[in-house]
Amino acid sequence: MTNPYAKRIMVTGGAGFVGSFLCERLLESGADVLCVDNFFTGTRSNIVHLMGNPQFELLRHDVTFPLYVEVDEIYNLACPASPVHYQFDPVQTTKTSVHGAINVLGLAKRTRAKILQASTSEVYGDPAVHPQTEDYWGNVNTIGPRSCYDEGKRCAETLFFDYYRQHKVKIKIARIFNTYGPRMHPDDGRVVSNFIMQALRGEAITIYGDGQQTRSFCYVSDLIDGLIRLMATPDEVTGPINIGNPGEFTIKELAETILELTGSKSELIFKPLPQDDPKQRQPDITRAQQILGWEPTIKLREGLTKSIPYFKSLVG
Ligand SMILES: NC(=O)c1ccc[n+]([C@@H]2O[C@H](COP(=O)([O-])OP(=O)(O)OC[C@H]3O[C@@H](n4cnc5c(N)ncnc54)[C@H](O)[C@@H]3O)[C@@H](O)[C@H]2O)c1
Repeated sequence: MTNPYAKRIMVTGGAGFVGSFLCERLLESGADVLCVDNFFTGTRSNIVHLMGNPQFELLRHDVTFPLYVEVDEIYNLACPASPVHYQFDPVQTTKTSVHGAINVLGLAKRTRAKILQASTSEVYGDPAVHPQTEDYWGNVNTIGPRSCYDEGKRCAETLFFDYYRQHKVKIKIARIFNTYGPRMHPDDGRVVSNFIMQALRGEAITIYGDGQQTRSFCYVSDLIDGLIRLMATPDEVTGPINIGNPGEFTIKELAETILELTGSKSELIFKPLPQDDPKQRQPDITRAQQILGWEPTIKLREGLTKSIPYFKSLVG
């Protein structure tokens, strides 16, 4: 029996890495979940275990086209997130962020649904402020190879705030920092998946630059917790709110930890830095701590240990 009074929640990009964990968690909370995905980077295998649940529904749909459904809450995650994927068809990437935002915001306006945008630390670009606070406006190249993603996400934030001011739509913006965990794409060029796959395959681990650039890494269950808490805040809480793990590691430290946890003998090799690669990225999560009572609980070692078996299952 399904509950006719259950909250109806739409998750765009629900068949992706983060989206599939979010769908899972929302179903566990008793909600009806509509997963909307065009399967560009998402896969059926990420959500196949949810298919038998009568409260789960899957719709193959591209968010750059309008959608008419009845929902109470929307999590807008649709957008390829790794450079390999978002640079594959950069025009479509910008369309997904911008047209996608217009379409889901239009839906939120019509249905009076609350809507959360999965924004990104990439809106800070190559930051001149460290760690990044939400009131920092960013340092983004408008015409580089990463701009389709960065500027698309920035424009989506603008649209969210304009729908909020102009149409009183109930918005929430989460600025997500590097997140990792099982179900990440094994070959998407993101640093955690890249290093683990290279270590497991016994291939050399490629570090771009000298490996001294730092990143923060948030385990996926912590991120989901932050997103759900943000959605549950009173209407006046709009964000943006940084969600990420402030624990800062150099890329070289990450590589060494992965070598140790996988027991791999891979060597480290160094290659030139790609264009516009940010040198430092670390969230200031004071707002998340104060407003959401949230902070990450999973340390890097623990999260990597939880993730490695998934990547091992792909290597065979
Ligand atoms: N994972 C991270 O570290 C991270 C960091 C910052 C922001 N984010 C944001 O979180 C969201 C989810 O990221 P992810 O890591 O799960 O990436 P992902 O690529 O695994 O998931 C994105 C999902 O969106 C779907 N999608 C793409 N274009 C679409 C379209 N036009 N219509 C419908 N569906 C479409 C894909 O098929 C995929 O299922 C993205 O919006 C991303 O920008 C993620």
